[in-house]
Amino acid sequence: MAKVFFSHDQMQERPNSRFPAPDPFQIHYHFVPSRPAFIGVTLDRETGEVNAMAGTLGPLTWGPYTMCLHISLAGSPHTLANLVEGGDCVVALPSRDIVRETWFMALPLPRGISELEVAGLHTFASKWVVPPSVTECPVNFECKVEFLKDYHSHRIIFVRAIGASIDSEVLSMNREEVLRRYPTYEVDDRANKFGGSIERLGVMGEIFECPSFPLAPKAGWYQTFNRWMEDLAEEGYLTSGQVTGIRERLAEYDRLFPQANDPRRKALHGFFTRLSTLIVKERWDDVRAHLQS
Ligand SMILES: Cc1cc2nc3c(=O)[nH]c(=O)nc-3n(C[C@H](O)[C@H](O)[C@H](O)COP(=O)(O)O)c2cc1C
Repeated sequence: MAKVFFSHDQMQERPNSRFPAPDPFQIHYHFVPSRPAFIGVTLDRETGEVNAMAGTLGPLTWGPYTMCLHISLAGSPHTLANLVEGGDCVVALPSRDIVRETWFMALPLPRGISELEVAGLHTFASKWVVPPSVTECPVNFECKVEFLKDYHSHRIIFVRAIGASIDSEVLSMNREEVLRRYPTYEVDDRANKFGGSIERLGVMGEIFECPSFPLAPKAGWYQTFNRWMEDLAEEGYLTSGQVTGIRERLAEYDRLFPQANDPRRKALHGFFTRLSTLIVKERWDDVRAHLQS
């Protein structure tokens, strides 16, 4: 399949000069993958009034549970002012039932006017932070702001969830049902007839299984290559003698690693590439033949 290359500036073009299309976002959206949407609730620093915005987030770490928000330096003045180091916020996950209301969170309302109230959404008291949580959102993370940095067009804000609430009715739902409801993702922008752009939200549909043992270590990610080989021996795919041979070759490869042009290192590189390729293709007879080479 032919590949088409784009420079950074060409990636940003809407419409794209090389591929003009009736939809000016036709090319651009390939570079902006779907990202989870949230409703961010903060309190006005002077008056304590509730402010809400719609945003998209990225995961950072799972333990502690942290997320990255990116708030426009030009476009989201109220949230930008309200989020300060050590401060509180609620990051709520809207479901497909409140797409319309989620969009209303992005209206440029005057300071002090609650977008939640205007959209007809409701709040309830959070347990760990002062800003309230959003009743219609099935999940509300109660967060502390830990880090802020102005970065190009946005302020990136790392928040740590210190607690969360979930709707009791979703607790017993199966995964497929939940995924069809939320999280919602900002999927793309569509040009409107005024030359503006309007976001579209979507939910995930299908779930695809990823392969696991013997095509990966028994415990999945974050294991060593040697651990994977030992797992294969434990289940009879390899003998313990074969694993010892693999370990010795790997130790030698690691020693030679900086010498990329060394013929022995090159041979070992080839050995491990082929071994791994045969395993992930489950060609076990070929694996055994390869280990004798
Ligand atoms: C689905 C969706 C996602 C958005 N994501 C962001 C975002 O990540 N960062 C941002 O600054 N604005 C984002 N916006 C726009 C803000 O919601 C909008 O600028 C809002 O008016 C900011 O409110 P504030 O001034 O009360 O902070 C998004 C809007 C929508 C509808």
